[in-house]
Amino acid sequence: MSSATPAAAPDVSNPDVVLVVDFGAQYAQLIARRVREARVYSEIVPSTMPVAEMLAKNPKAIILSGGPSSVYAEGAPRLDRALFEAGVPVFGMCYGFQLMATTLGGTVDNTGAREYGRTPLHVSKAGSTLFEGTPVEQSVWMSHGDACSAAPEGFAVTASTDVVPVAAFENDEKKLYGVQYHPEVLHSTHGQQILEHFLYRGAGIEPSWTTGNVIEEQVAAIRAQVGSKRAICGLSGGVDSAVAAALVQKAIGSQLTCVYVDHGLMRKGETEQVEKDFVAATGANLVVVDAQERFLDALAGVSDPETKRKIIGREFIRVFEQAQLEILQEEGPEVAFLVQGTLYPDIVESGGGTGTANIKSHHNVGGLPDDIEFELVEPLRQLFKDEVRMVGQELGLPEEIVQRQPFPGPGLGIRIVGEVTKERLDLLREADAIAREELTAAGLDREIWQCPVVLLADVRSVGVQGDGRTYGHPIVLRPVSSEDAMTADWSRLPYEVLAKISTRITNEVADVNRVVLDVTSKPPGTIEWE
Ligand code: XMP
Repeated sequence: MSSATPAAAPDVSNPDVVLVVDFGAQYAQLIARRVREARVYSEIVPSTMPVAEMLAKNPKAIILSGGPSSVYAEGAPRLDRALFEAGVPVFGMCYGFQLMATTLGGTVDNTGAREYGRTPLHVSKAGSTLFEGTPVEQSVWMSHGDACSAAPEGFAVTASTDVVPVAAFENDEKKLYGVQYHPEVLHSTHGQQILEHFLYRGAGIEPSWTTGNVIEEQVAAIRAQVGSKRAICGLSGGVDSAVAAALVQKAIGSQLTCVYVDHGLMRKGETEQVEKDFVAATGANLVVVDAQERFLDALAGVSDPETKRKIIGREFIRVFEQAQLEILQEEGPEVAFLVQGTLYPDIVESGGGTGTANIKSHHNVGGLPDDIEFELVEPLRQLFKDEVRMVGQELGLPEEIVQRQPFPGPGLGIRIVGEVTKERLDLLREADAIAREELTAAGLDREIWQCPVVLLADVRSVGVQGDGRTYGHPIVLRPVSSEDAMTADWSRLPYEVLAKISTRITNEVADVNRVVLDVTSKPPGTIEWE
């Protein structure tokens, strides 16, 4: 079996990097995003990273995140004092604030005085670096059990709450700042402003990071990595692979070949978007493999969801590998690189910032001859999803691709409850297209996370249409709101939009005489029906 080796992260070290030290509990990602919203480049590092290694990254500032621990808990993460003595501006938030306080000689008490949720903050030093220009009374998001009762020497106390005497402090001379609360959370009404004050005023960083910089940096890095060799990229129709391919295309042009497997399970117009609009926007060299029949044959007679998924996954790998083999056999420079749309959250979640890329199974190159090894090109590995969309927009990709909502790899194959056939796919494609059209027309695309449209192919119900009795299938609408698809709630769509979708689907799609709305949250229901 051959393997794809993660490339060393391209050396695009940003001169203005802010490090976010992760003390756990998922606050660090949000902080890193907020820093980037302030147009400053940020990276997350684990709290176990030695301080010397953090400083070797030459950060312009360091932010200490919140975390689940009490500073007094056994085994709670600590920080080397050297971090505060290196002359790098530091901002501690919540746990990071308490750690800063205890490390530098302040007092944090385990008083049992807990504060959770929205809390009034009283700013006592209005002209301070962090609070200047913000109201004396503001609402902040708290989540702590311990409280700071005395700031370290040399620090001015800048805010308090009814429960915590020291809810914020700063030492302007040493460029050290801290707040007991979570400024990264939107419930903290002036949180972003305070973060920006730290970045611009405290640390003196210019807000200059843009997705335009990313494109320039990545183009240079990709050229340096690929040289005169060739690369291939699997396109799924999704945002990430499209943007990754467009970026690599901009860097190395015809040295890149994109492969799109048309499994016939896409929604209406999506294959054409890749075939025509993507190519028109990027000039990419695209190989489209029409494998519709192959997938339909393999799925014939199968109703079990897991079996369907396995078949679709298996066929996908086979077709993709076959296409790769054909490209490898073409005349020309060696094909040594595989482009992947890995994003920053994938990297953080899989345990670190360097070389830990996860190869998704449908892009896996297992099965190719032993002596072929691909090095990965991952131009989006520094970016969050919304930033990927901005890059895509800047690269001129069509809005329909860039703003696409999540869509499962097995496509409509897992939105037909029952056997997958060409007729059923066509029917579902029509119903889905109507739902999408109306949601877009109502301006709801950004309000909802996604809206699977599901065909209950094995269910029939009686209806009356025109003058006659019908015995047709129901269509289920499954609009959901979510942050990350791990949990979701059903979206409360306006009745008039639902009415319009229902009327159009039953009028325009033959064999559908009923539209129902799924009002189940996740859990207990998953987003997809299969
Ligand atoms: P569930 O149904 O598990 O879906 O609540 C969570 C999110 O994942 C998407 N999904 C998939 N995406 N391959 C994918 O690439 C899959 O097999 C798959 N199954 C579900 C789903 O659309 C939702 O956004």
